[in-house]
Amino acid sequence: MSAVVIDGKAIARSIREEIAREVEQLKQEGIHPGLAVVLVGQDPASHSYVKGKVKGCEEVGIYSEVVCLEESVSQAELHETIEQIKKKTNIHGILVQLPLPPHISEEAVLDLIPAEKDVDGFHPENVGKMVIGKESLLPCTPHGIVKLIQTTGTDLNGKHVVVIGRSNIVGKPVSLLLLQENATVTLCHSRTRNLADLTRQADILVVAVGKPHLIGKEHVSPGTIVIDVGVNRLENGKLVGDVRFDEVAEVASYITPVPGGVGPMTITMLLANTVKAAKAQTRKGD
Ligand code: GUN
Repeated sequence: MSAVVIDGKAIARSIREEIAREVEQLKQEGIHPGLAVVLVGQDPASHSYVKGKVKGCEEVGIYSEVVCLEESVSQAELHETIEQIKKKTNIHGILVQLPLPPHISEEAVLDLIPAEKDVDGFHPENVGKMVIGKESLLPCTPHGIVKLIQTTGTDLNGKHVVVIGRSNIVGKPVSLLLLQENATVTLCHSRTRNLADLTRQADILVVAVGKPHLIGKEHVSPGTIVIDVGVNRLENGKLVGDVRFDEVAEVASYITPVPGGVGPMTITMLLANTVKAAKAQTRKGD
């Protein structure tokens, strides 16, 4: 293997140490950042993600609470739950774990969360601000990806980044954030023709598709930085990314592992957003 493995766990740990120091400082000013997570249904992956978020909060000293609702919850009941959380002065960030059951309108739910408490960065106001490069709460996984790339010491100016996947959670926002850093961005998706011709032109390749082992060494030119956002559980229980790690690591310059690459950064950026939201809400008019 010639690639350097980007240790997302270690990078996340060092950012969390900084966040913990900031939380401690805020507490001395009488500000205790708080996060509420709404979890609907029994999806094991969602439960596991929420557990990680609560653990992350504990690690850095952020107060957290989880509201669990039945899969059968109505749209009105879910809205009422969010309305109640919005009234809590000790909660600065609200997150509704996705996906929601099919009978619930995700869009209507996300619109309910005030932009200033939208620590996922999914509210249209925050998305709009991101598009025009204005200060806002940034979506966690894309923000974490940019941080991971920056830890390699790579200057994004003029670099060709190829992103595969056009989801609202990762592909679209990470493309915008990288554009903001002056990269030239090509956004590929399921209808893209001659994918390998495009990916081989990349200085940096970000793969966020959700298909195990989709990308192999035929897609990657020597020296490329490869960021694997995929989290796929195989039938044998093994967790793998969208990239065939072993063969791509032979040609890439840097590569993220799954698990232990992008994943730990997502929660870390959520913690950072919660602190940012708490500061903005409590220091208004300073
Ligand atoms: N489900 C998968 N990823 C995410 C995320 O980043 N935020 C929320 N709220 N739900 C998710």
